[in-house]
Amino acid sequence: MDEEATSHDKKRIFYSTLMNDNLLDCIVSKVRVVQIAPSVNLKSKSISPCDFYYDMKYSVDYSAFCATVNDIGNVSPSSCNKAVHMNGNKANSEEISIHRPYKSKLALLDIYSGCGGMSTGLCLGAKVSGVDLVTKWAVDIDKSACESLKLNHPETQIRNESAEDFLNLLKEWDKLCKRYVVSDGLIFAMVIPMKRGSVGSNFRCVGWDMVQMRIQWEPIEELSKCEGHIRDIVLKGFKAKILPRPGDADVICGGPPCQGISGYNRYRNVDSPLDDERNHQIVVFMDVVNFLKPKYVLMENVADILRFAKGSLGRYALSRLVHMNYQARLGIMASGCYGLPQFRLRVFLWGAHPHENLPQFPLPTHDVVLKYGAPSEFERSVVAYDEGQTRDLEKTLVLNDAISDLPPVTNHEIRYKMSYKKPPETEFQKFIRATKSDMMGSASTDTTGADKSVLYDHRPLPLSEDDYLRVCRIPQKKGANFRDLPGIVIGDDNVVRRDPMLEPILMPSGKSWVPDYALNFGGGKSTRPFARLWWDETVATVLCRPDPHSQAILHPEQDRVLTVRECARLQGFPDYYEFCGDVKERYCQIGNAVAVPVARALGYALGMAAQKLSGDEPLMTLPSKLLPFHYYSVVTICI
Ligand SMILES: C[S@@+](CC[C@H](N)C(=O)[O-])C[C@H]1O[C@@H](n2cnc3c(N)ncnc32)[C@H](O)[C@@H]1O
Repeated sequence: MDEEATSHDKKRIFYSTLMNDNLLDCIVSKVRVVQIAPSVNLKSKSISPCDFYYDMKYSVDYSAFCATVNDIGNVSPSSCNKAVHMNGNKANSEEISIHRPYKSKLALLDIYSGCGGMSTGLCLGAKVSGVDLVTKWAVDIDKSACESLKLNHPETQIRNESAEDFLNLLKEWDKLCKRYVVSDGLIFAMVIPMKRGSVGSNFRCVGWDMVQMRIQWEPIEELSKCEGHIRDIVLKGFKAKILPRPGDADVICGGPPCQGISGYNRYRNVDSPLDDERNHQIVVFMDVVNFLKPKYVLMENVADILRFAKGSLGRYALSRLVHMNYQARLGIMASGCYGLPQFRLRVFLWGAHPHENLPQFPLPTHDVVLKYGAPSEFERSVVAYDEGQTRDLEKTLVLNDAISDLPPVTNHEIRYKMSYKKPPETEFQKFIRATKSDMMGSASTDTTGADKSVLYDHRPLPLSEDDYLRVCRIPQKKGANFRDLPGIVIGDDNVVRRDPMLEPILMPSGKSWVPDYALNFGGGKSTRPFARLWWDETVATVLCRPDPHSQAILHPEQDRVLTVRECARLQGFPDYYEFCGDVKERYCQIGNAVAVPVARALGYALGMAAQKLSGDEPLMTLPSKLLPFHYYSVVTICI
């Protein structure tokens, strides 16, 4: 991290309109500062003599670094691809060739894609703005997440491998393409060292597997005979764009995991968070951006990246973008503000090539019950209306809005498919039941062959026998939790203890009705273990595991945890979206995802920026056509 900080050009400064009113009573020295045109290939060597130069302005609000083109060169959308002369700084030809003109169809690479919550929402939102954003490539190390993505996005080239291997592959693929397609004609001699595979062996690309949609590899010693068709393979792959080469991906999005920052982890490395392998994916994500040089970048993460180690992981990500001469803007968004009955605070970081409009953050469309605040040092990055600013928000959504229409199921339900049994009861339910073609606003984009009158995955992770008996004793009322089980008392200090006046009351299995972990959770003050959600509540955050021991996840009136489909709805996944893997893996993909309506709002902002229709301000108001309620005239309701 220190290395990254010191590698910034010491002559580069940022323009700010923040004024300091303190009078200077002497001038220590004068310096020559020049303003230059922004460029991703900015090198101080090519700049006219000066002590300092600046190409971007900095604003504390939303930690924004924005190009100053309008002030200096008046670089209009149409002149984006022309070299800009300013104080001797000229965009070089490599940059121009990578930076192609605006197309209404944009190609998206989703790294750490999971089951595709983020990219699905981005594409839906961009579509509303008039931009056809298509997830062309996706990468994730988790097999079942890749299968889910493939099932819902058959058009996407999905690679089930680590992001590190993917980056190595991109670099080698680029060399192959340069050799066989760009330079055309040199003899095959490419050795591709892979990090994984059999230890110590080298592999070569020998073919393209059309069924698996992946490159086939073969150990080097068996490769003597395939030189002849390697050129064909590379040519075919190049034409089909099986992998992105620099400039091919217009947008890169991703949520690199940062498991090393969890507040529950006592061994987290506070002094050097990037040395922790579990936090290293932020580095890999930025390395992919650096190699592919997309027009736009969107990174998502938990709010803890701005809390842990003084926010150094979040600062690192911002710093990498600025170092690559990208514009950048950071926002903290509560998912409930975009039409969901779930609070879920997440950090989003936009990056944009200096000649593009930096996407704005979409202002909330819905009121939301605030659960907890953002990290104090980044309070000015919370995407919200200012105090006193006029706002016209839809009402807060609650659990009832999302799931009241779903048929009752028991703790032992195992069916993958069932019928809805009744029509939708709320606006949210009408929207979430829309077909894929309705959502995409197209005649038919449905290639999954799924029957839209079928309800998928409305089944819970079954509770253990003891937990099931406990849950059956939790009253079906608002605020009920383990404190309603027998054998405990609650002190004046709000701490729960075993009742010393009573003989221990045991379950048929011989265990206590109130387990020790429930008594000890949150110092005995928590009300979360075995808590029922209630119809009028906004859920805190859908997690990867529906664990009733540590979170409020019980259905209000049925003795079970929320089903896979109920969690998917709380994350805004349309009912047509299907998941793969075992039931635990499905919950995990859903809990990991970016809430689809949040990504949809961001996708709209991206589409507007791509068309140069957005302004310089950090925030934008979403149009009413983006609200779910405006779809109903075209939506087919499934019963
Ligand atoms: C927070 S989730 C991303 C969710 C996704 N953005 C969505 O909206 O559905 C992080 C994902 O990173 C994947 N992952 C973890 N380590 C990885 C690695 N080294 N390379 C590629 N993927 C990885 C996990 O399998 C998980 O699906």
